[in-house]
Amino acid sequence: MTRSLDDQALEILRANDRGGYTVPTARLYPYQWNWDSAFAALGFSFVDRDRAWAEIETLFDAQWPDGMVPHIIFRRNDPDYFPGPDIWQTNVDPPTSGHSQPPVASSIVYEMVERGDASDLARAHALLPKLIAYHRWFHTARDHQGTGVLGIVHPWESGRDNCPDWDLGMDRIEIADDLGPYQRRDIGHVDPAERPQPAQYDRYLTIIKFGRECGWNHAELARNGPFWMADPGIQFILMRADRDLLRLAQAVGETAAIPEIEAWIAHLEDGCQQLWNPDAGAFCAKDLRTGTFSPCLTNAAMLAHYAGAGTEGQRQRMAETARRVVDDVAFAFPSWDPRGSAFESRRYWRGPIWAVVNYMIQKGLAEHGETRLADRIKTDTLALIARSGFCEYFDPLTGDGLGGRDFTWTAAIHIALSSDATTARAA
Ligand code: GLC
Repeated sequence: MTRSLDDQALEILRANDRGGYTVPTARLYPYQWNWDSAFAALGFSFVDRDRAWAEIETLFDAQWPDGMVPHIIFRRNDPDYFPGPDIWQTNVDPPTSGHSQPPVASSIVYEMVERGDASDLARAHALLPKLIAYHRWFHTARDHQGTGVLGIVHPWESGRDNCPDWDLGMDRIEIADDLGPYQRRDIGHVDPAERPQPAQYDRYLTIIKFGRECGWNHAELARNGPFWMADPGIQFILMRADRDLLRLAQAVGETAAIPEIEAWIAHLEDGCQQLWNPDAGAFCAKDLRTGTFSPCLTNAAMLAHYAGAGTEGQRQRMAETARRVVDDVAFAFPSWDPRGSAFESRRYWRGPIWAVVNYMIQKGLAEHGETRLADRIKTDTLALIARSGFCEYFDPLTGDGLGGRDFTWTAAIHIALSSDATTARAA
């Protein structure tokens, strides 16, 4: 059973391969996405090492001169996607979007090295300067005041596009009056009830307009852009990636890079305390313009263990809350607390389960001895895929598969979770 699902998973990766890079799914997402590609590499790495490295290498081929790795790379024009390169106008080659996405790449590279041999180490070594430049960009452009708290300039930068976390910042955005008529393509491919609302889309485009008009100047976006919020997901994923980058630098003997990376880690460790919301008893997103916390636990905040963030007591508190959330749903782990008033079990990041986030959550929990919770999340992820297929996301109450079908990262996570190597490491 599992074997044949893994075969199907590999077929999906191959079918979504556009030659050196993988699209998240045909039609709905016809380009290369940053963290999707990193997870595609993870999936490929269990069956085809060379192809896995190519995925990461093509992603970093699109790195901007300042170190940023953009969230979308528009390698071939596809009029069936909106907003395309003509809306972003970033003036780079290949054309890309103008902000980044969760920087999981170094962590995936480290996993590939851990399971690999000397040739994997050599490819990681060749990539190391680019990985370091990417992290340095995040630590400066997204922490321009040096507070140890990273900001994001667009909800899409979090990778959790329409999570209620962003309602705070989004509600304060005044929609630009000259957006003109535009045609969304996503709702032609997927049920609109499973996608963001029109008013949110107008605000997404208002931020892009601001970015375009300031020439995608990161400092200007951070200081005066329409949206500037802290995301526990980005904070924790970069923290983990910094730790994995440090291990990579040590493994290849790049000792000169080590002090800078250690300083980044210490800085983010301090910054995490500013994301602890005492009212929720959890790490939460925060509007950095007003200092207001988002009220609820998310799947991204559950990456605290994965990051090694917070005190032991805070992590225990997160695990306790997670146990309660898991009891509230049929399948774990929902992207928003089901007891929160904004919870919608089928709408994108406002409740549904995402396999890639589950992968990171269960890994972190297992490493911290939270074995039962980790096992539940891992088992649920595999059960959802067995039951509903390789969907983009899943309803935590019914287990229904939602959004796009034959999804690259869901396939990749199936391969990773069902592999013996992963099971052995998590045990
Ligand atoms: C959606 C998701 C984002 C993902 C992209 C491609 O925008 O919210 O996280 O990278 O689709 O799959």
